[in-house]
Amino acid sequence: MADQAEWVKRPEAAIAAARCTETEYDALYARSLKDADGFWAEQAERLDWIAKPSTIADWSFDPVAIKWFSDGRLNICHSAVDRHVENGHGDAIALIFEPDDPKSDARQITYADLQREVVKMANTLKTMGVEKGDRVTIYMPMVPEGAFAMLACARIGAVHSVIFGGFSPEAIAGRVEDCESDWIVTADEGLRGGKRIPLKANVDKALEKVSVKAVLVLRHTGGDIAMSEGRDHWYHELSEGVSDSCPCEPMDAEDPLFILYTSGSTGKPKGVLHTTGGYAVWTETTFRYVFDYRPGEVYWCTADIGWVTGHSYIVYGPLLNRATALMFEGVPNYPDHDRFWAVCEKHRVNIFYTAPTAIRALMREGAGHVAKHDLSSLRLLGSVGEPINPEAWRWYHDHVGRGEAPIVDTWWQTETGGIMITTLPGAHDMKPGSAGKPFFGIVPELVENDGVVLEGKAEGNLCIARSWPGQARTVYGDHDRFVQTYFSTYPGKYFTGDGCRRDEDGYYWITGRVDDVINVSGHRMGTAEVESALVLHPKVSEAAVVGYPHDIKGQGIYCYVTLNAGEEPDGDLEAELRQWVRKEIGPIATPDHLHFTPALPKTRSGKIMRRILRKIAEQEYGSLGDTSTLADPGIVDALIETRKGNA
Ligand code: WT7
Repeated sequence: MADQAEWVKRPEAAIAAARCTETEYDALYARSLKDADGFWAEQAERLDWIAKPSTIADWSFDPVAIKWFSDGRLNICHSAVDRHVENGHGDAIALIFEPDDPKSDARQITYADLQREVVKMANTLKTMGVEKGDRVTIYMPMVPEGAFAMLACARIGAVHSVIFGGFSPEAIAGRVEDCESDWIVTADEGLRGGKRIPLKANVDKALEKVSVKAVLVLRHTGGDIAMSEGRDHWYHELSEGVSDSCPCEPMDAEDPLFILYTSGSTGKPKGVLHTTGGYAVWTETTFRYVFDYRPGEVYWCTADIGWVTGHSYIVYGPLLNRATALMFEGVPNYPDHDRFWAVCEKHRVNIFYTAPTAIRALMREGAGHVAKHDLSSLRLLGSVGEPINPEAWRWYHDHVGRGEAPIVDTWWQTETGGIMITTLPGAHDMKPGSAGKPFFGIVPELVENDGVVLEGKAEGNLCIARSWPGQARTVYGDHDRFVQTYFSTYPGKYFTGDGCRRDEDGYYWITGRVDDVINVSGHRMGTAEVESALVLHPKVSEAAVVGYPHDIKGQGIYCYVTLNAGEEPDGDLEAELRQWVRKEIGPIATPDHLHFTPALPKTRSGKIMRRILRKIAEQEYGSLGDTSTLADPGIVDALIETRKGNA
């Protein structure tokens, strides 16, 4: 179907205003491959370096050792904040904060304000004993102080590990323990859609399992919380009287900048590690070209800073470009389904970047909510996190973009640090549902299961043949796992875990994960994690979790569960298991569908046949494939019966 997909022409205005035309893209892309060192040395010039790098690319995928700009020295906070003030732009707006409650005041934070705030936070962290190289956990609501905390860590050379506010105490404890983090920065409570999120209480529960030296607490809602004497400190108290000067720590380009936990097909979430110089160059360059940002424009990415999108495209990429970035605390449907568009109108947003799941949810509420608002300021739209179905693309384009604003569908991952495949607004026409073309320096390859690299029009497993500056360097504390996960399936290449098709025009179409990772509302989840949570329940004997198509979320979480002998499933147990998974992982992992079964389909050697379970969850009963290797083929019929009965 999609091969004959319609082109959507980029508007003349985008071509006329383009920083990079199609011819320029072709030339720059060619140069980025032919003369990678020269190309990236030039891009790196836009940052402030304490010592300019003379070595640019220095990497190998076999054995795996990745370095960029390795003899360079810099501090990313200096380039994102201080230099703009020094260059006379202290009055430019860095962040606009739009609170959950539209009746509360929005905040505007200039670059000069940002510098003061980051210095204050940095000195407060130092007061608590944080030093260069230490890991600091950040578990914050979507408020500017979350960004201040990240930048403050970068400023003093501490490594931040941000945990999304939707994760449970168990998840916090696991991550704090994994990276041996002695400090947590949090808030009393978060606020989302009028509901209070008990952040500090969650931290307290996590700290029954692990211990830290100190917790810094931002007073945000003023809600009632417990403070543990000697361990917990109010930010407004501890920051009182700290010095208003805090020089940026000189960092080596390959010094760690942050750890971000993400799910894989097996085991516990991995702490993906990004370093300083390459990440700075990659986020600066991708933001500059993909969003074609111009000073004075208002840019809004609706992600949370707890995900990589928030790291790269709310905090680092925009600020390195001296952009004005909007930070929104709330949700798309509060107080009503027009909130996104109300915020776009209120702050005259020019560039808007969101996820397909949000678009689908808002599309269902009707275009009337969009029509209520003046969206004439929007000139560019972006999509990220999962494949966007052409229907949602069209709605986004026609209603939100008035049929004029180009859409950039940006494919990338936590591990890639920034955008890898996308169209550029002035350079490329679009095809709804396709991410488009590789960014500078990116060499995508489509590989068959046996390792054969396909040429031209083809479909296969998406690998990246060469390193790029923003690539993750390792899994924190477990380099072997890094090598195993990303470089062992197709030796010498980075394997993304995604399936992908390349069409006759060289456009890439991501078809979704080919491993046991599912994408629920743009959130990445390992099916193994949900299974481990389920089997921890005393009544559960076995569990197998797969993704299945979900109208709004993209994929839903489908759980096959077998109970211990003597246990009977009922509505109470179902509710209890849902609650159980929420407690173990967090609300984002809440099962959508529980399917109780006396047994799971297994091979004679005892391996669960996930392929069959996936098909049954998808209600694709006709294409179950070979079931002859099953120990007990009768199970499949029973599973189908149940699925049909409750579909
Ligand atoms: C996975 C990465 C990219 C930051 C947010 C998610 C899927 C991401 C797209 C897109 C199709 C996409 C992939 C990828 N994905 N963007 N534009 N089109 N699929 O980061 O949590 O690391 O998840 O999200 O499957 O592997 P993440």
